[in-house]
Amino acid sequence: MKLYLAILLVIVAVAVASKEEEDLWKSYKKKFNKNHSSKEDVNRKRNFIKRQKAIEAHNRDNKEWKMGHNKFSDMTEEETNVLRGTKMVKRRVKSASEPIYPVNERPLPTYIDYRSNRCLQPVEDQGECGSCWAFAAITALEFNHCKKTGARGPLSEQMLVDCDTYNFGCNGGDFTQAWQYLENYGGAVNGTSYPYVSGTTQTNGTCKSGSNAVAARVGYYNWVIPYPNATLIMSYLQMEGPLPSAIKVLDSFFYYTSGVYSDPACIVSDEYDVNHAVVIVGYGTVPSTTTSPAIPYWIVRNSWSTGWGNGGYFFIRRGVNMCNIESWTAFVRAA
Ligand SMILES: *[C@@H]1O[C@H](CO)[C@@H](O)[C@H](O)[C@H]1NC(C)=O
Ligand SMILES: *[C@@H]1O[C@H](CO)[C@@H](O)[C@H](O)[C@H]1NC(C)=O
Ligand SMILES: *[C@@H]1O[C@H](CO)[C@@H](O)[C@H](O)[C@H]1NC(C)=O
Ligand SMILES: *[C@@H]1O[C@H](CO)[C@@H](O)[C@H](O)[C@H]1NC(C)=O
Repeated sequence: MKLYLAILLVIVAVAVASKEEEDLWKSYKKKFNKNHSSKEDVNRKRNFIKRQKAIEAHNRDNKEWKMGHNKFSDMTEEETNVLRGTKMVKRRVKSASEPIYPVNERPLPTYIDYRSNRCLQPVEDQGECGSCWAFAAITALEFNHCKKTGARGPLSEQMLVDCDTYNFGCNGGDFTQAWQYLENYGGAVNGTSYPYVSGTTQTNGTCKSGSNAVAARVGYYNWVIPYPNATLIMSYLQMEGPLPSAIKVLDSFFYYTSGVYSDPACIVSDEYDVNHAVVIVGYGTVPSTTTSPAIPYWIVRNSWSTGWGNGGYFFIRRGVNMCNIESWTAFVRAA
């Protein structure tokens, strides 16, 4: 009798758990507008439940940053790996004499936040294409073109994805190479007349550059050197505006939602161990409390839509070269 009761309880528990999972899956699909064929639904649900468990475990243990569901939760690893699209090539440092190397004489403020600056264009979505490098290159150029001329408006990432032969379209690239390409080409073209489409087509298209007039020219660009130096990066942020950089994206990072991201596994010794381009737009410090020390952070812009992370942004530990973010900052000036 006792044995039957035990078996029955197990069956009920399993049924309740799978009912719970089914409900979570249904509300997830609704929230993120997912519509799978019934055949595909089984596999998608399996991916989702795997992430659900990882998110629960992380949020139980980690007080500094939280994970949550987003559009990636039901994707396969092959699909999210497409987003690790940065291929940094050997750093070519332009000499200090061409034309100027800046020295900051102003004191550093306690925080900088360009997120609401009128020269920063809205966060975009690179979609299923490894074009993060183009978004990073264009975000900084848009800002600096606006800062210099007052003219704000989108510049074209698609033109880089389609035309830039120094990079690899949806297969990845390096934002400084993109600036070099634009410098040689004559500049970046208007984003309204050459809009982004690779997020849904998932491939780079054919180059239509001939028919597009240049809207912003590259005057100068360089790496922030020597590196890694968080103080120097703060100084360049103040002088030049948002700074692209490259990071190593770990699996957990895809589901970041809030807090200051850090992961011991993301402190890496090889500076080339990076796979994603992002843009640093500010810094600050979470004040200390009686139970925890102060946490310095960077405010960083991603290109995975405003629905990802914190309105499209994330916070990450500052001063420890987390995920190599302090090894690859660069700046661009519009001509
Ligand atoms: C889901 O997709 C199917 C076929 O692609 C379509 O018939 C159906 O209307 C879609 N449902 C929703 C809620 O979008
Ligand atoms: C792009 O073109 C639109 C429409 O022609 C124009 O309003 C806008 O100012 C242009 N943007 C830039 C950055 O030149
Ligand atoms: C386009 O895609 C292919 C791979 O499919 C890649 O080799 C190529 O470099 C890409 N970029 C350009 C600008 O053609
Ligand atoms: C980092 O840069 C700052 C500002 O230029 C400089 O004062 C400091 O000495 C540098 N630190 C290191 C370790 O190079």
